[in-house]
Amino acid sequence: MAVDLLLGLQWGDEGKGKIVDVLTKNYDIIARFQGGPNAGHTLEFDGIKHVLRTIPSGIFHKNAMNVIGNGVVIDPVVFVKELEGLDKYNLDYKKNLILSRKAHIILPTHRLLDAASEASKGKAKIGSTLKGIGPTYMDKTGRNGIRIGDLELENWQDKYRALADKHEAMIDFYNVDVQYDLADLETEFFAAVETLKTLTFIDSEEYLHQAQKEGKTILAEGAQGSLLDIDFGTYPFVTSSNTTAAGACTGLGVPPNKVKDVFGIFKAYTTRVGSGPFPTELFDAVGEKMAIIGNEIGAVTGRARRCGWLDLVALRYAVQVNGVTQLIMMKADVLSGFETLKVCTAYNYKGETINHFPYNIEAENVTPIYTEMKGWKADLTKMDAISQLPQALNDYIDFLEKELEVPIKVVSVGPDRKQTILRD
Ligand code: IMP
Repeated sequence: MAVDLLLGLQWGDEGKGKIVDVLTKNYDIIARFQGGPNAGHTLEFDGIKHVLRTIPSGIFHKNAMNVIGNGVVIDPVVFVKELEGLDKYNLDYKKNLILSRKAHIILPTHRLLDAASEASKGKAKIGSTLKGIGPTYMDKTGRNGIRIGDLELENWQDKYRALADKHEAMIDFYNVDVQYDLADLETEFFAAVETLKTLTFIDSEEYLHQAQKEGKTILAEGAQGSLLDIDFGTYPFVTSSNTTAAGACTGLGVPPNKVKDVFGIFKAYTTRVGSGPFPTELFDAVGEKMAIIGNEIGAVTGRARRCGWLDLVALRYAVQVNGVTQLIMMKADVLSGFETLKVCTAYNYKGETINHFPYNIEAENVTPIYTEMKGWKADLTKMDAISQLPQALNDYIDFLEKELEVPIKVVSVGPDRKQTILRD
């Protein structure tokens, strides 16, 4: 059986949580393959709003198995809080949530290092969520990390001590003002590790291999977005993992020839949190209106998201890098009420018109070239069929499909599971 992928195509926050939750009924297994608690996947159903951080978005469906793959980084403290947040829903997560032994662990000192590193950068800071993601992946590739499987070993705390001591020396080296009480943080950390150890640790690549042989259906749930990919994103203003399709192969041990559909999810406009270039960013009342109507506040950090028009140069690039087979457009309802809409179809790059996403998209090199389209006024949030959508929105969708050469199969018109319109 093949594996399908669901990936964010912009700078994250596209609405992956909602769509995984909607798609879960079609899958036996939902697997996270990269990132960690820097993600905040928001799900809304039956009047409930819930934000997931590391736990796959299939957790609310009783029949789905949820796998945290080897490519993910897990903070035991955040993870246990996340489990506690699920208690009120009476979910049997000891049965349907399993963790890869090869996933790396975020230590308290990784979080401190993240803060020290950002503080040392001053104005050049990445705008990290400060969840310790970068330092944990650095220890992974530096071959120093502690993995979930290590927790099953007698002497894992020796390894912990050596690494935490090294981190403290590194924090000193940064020579910035980071206040902390490691003893307190460690008490919380070791208690959380004990709770974590009550869950099931598995060799997830083997589990997924067997599941495929048995004909089970698997959806790999991405976190962040393609433009935050460590290789293909707007480096250095990126996260520290491969958020693109190939990351699902390395982050789960799924071979490329087993990947079938790649669902690419994007907002009808563009947002970004944190620092970094954003060619179509709006600094005027239009951008403010998008932020207010779209409630563009970060689910993890509470930071206001920067807003702008849809950037088809960037989106085309993400479609290419990921091999997207089906598109899902989110938050179409947020664009209701704008007289005209703009879509960036090319860049003016150092005086030349280009259609591809170049090495450098800083404002001094890139000016977006826009096509203007008619807006619509109707409230989409109550609509549940394509035939009800205003003509101007259908024109917008048709235009995007032509430019991207991939069908838009789903249009989301509100945060609830039910506010999802399928297009055939
Ligand atoms: P980090 O991954 O926390 O180090 O953050 C690196 C960059 O990625 C920052 O600009 C963050 O704002 C951004 N980022 C990380 N996770 C997410 C996410 O889930 N959604 C949107 N942006 C994110």
